[in-house]
Amino acid sequence: MSNVRPESMARIETKELADKFIAEQVAEVRAQVGDKKVLLALSGGVDSSVVAALLIKAIGKQLICVHVNHGLMRKDESEEVIRIFRDGLDANLVYVDATDRFLGKLEGVSDPEKKRKIIGGEFIVVFDEEARKLTDVDFLAQGTIYPDILESDGVKAHHNVGGLPEDMKFELVEPIKLLYKDEVRVVGKALGLPASMVDRQPFPGPGLGVRCLGAITRDRLHALREADAILREEFDICGLSQKVWQYFIAVPDMKSVGVKDSKRYEGWPAIIRAVNTSDAMTATIEEIPYEVLHKITARITAEVEGINRVLLDLTPKPVGTIEWE
Ligand code: XMP
Repeated sequence: MSNVRPESMARIETKELADKFIAEQVAEVRAQVGDKKVLLALSGGVDSSVVAALLIKAIGKQLICVHVNHGLMRKDESEEVIRIFRDGLDANLVYVDATDRFLGKLEGVSDPEKKRKIIGGEFIVVFDEEARKLTDVDFLAQGTIYPDILESDGVKAHHNVGGLPEDMKFELVEPIKLLYKDEVRVVGKALGLPASMVDRQPFPGPGLGVRCLGAITRDRLHALREADAILREEFDICGLSQKVWQYFIAVPDMKSVGVKDSKRYEGWPAIIRAVNTSDAMTATIEEIPYEVLHKITARITAEVEGINRVLLDLTPKPVGTIEWE
């Protein structure tokens, strides 16, 4: 398949067009890989999930999905990957819980770029270790999509396996590389993936690692994950999750004094960030109704150990980036 989208290619907007695309790709992938095995790093993001579902349809257990849990996933995210792919689609799924390795490497590291490098580097090491345990794998599947090709050299910027060591030679399988993001979502739905997976908001490769600000500790990471789960739950309830482009909690490495059960209670603040954008280059702030903010604040301060204040980030991009680090 060439890397250029033909002008004649119709925009995949309907179930019928998605089904046609899926049938074509199933045939193409079968012709490409024959009876060989294919490896895929399945993060649980939209692109890798759609590639996984497509390849399971085409070649079943010849596809080996590796899901690396770096310990920086949102609440229940890895469990959802296992539920959907291993339990639901009977996928050949290798689950690697590398939490201790990642958090060990990140201990005491507060510089954001160093944190990103450690996370990206360790991901490749863990994936490489898993790949070497397998035999007869000739192909590597990737969730490259058309904007990745237009914006870069065609290799996913993060979580990419283009960084695998030179001696690991794979032929690439990239069935959705000519699709735009909205088309990937239509194809994902046609493949039967749940909306919770196909319509999910963007999530950075380094995950909660760039939202647990400064040097990550397990207790603060846990508080962040719980607070973020409450924010997402409440956005689902009031319908904001359908409308807001990206929303999350960041927890800085600082404490303030509070009071709980008539006792002094020192805790971290949870910072709410909810932004809208079309290209992530600039972003505006979602005006969250005050009653929703009050409910989220009440729940987070009551339910999350270690959080004693909830703050709202009102800064558009520029001047604030979407993430805090
Ligand atoms: P910023 O913070 O630069 O973010 O305004 C723009 C978009 O990119 C996401 N982001 C990342 N995605 N690896 C990723 O895969 C990263 O290191 C990273 N940093 C930011 C961010 O979530 C937002 O959608």
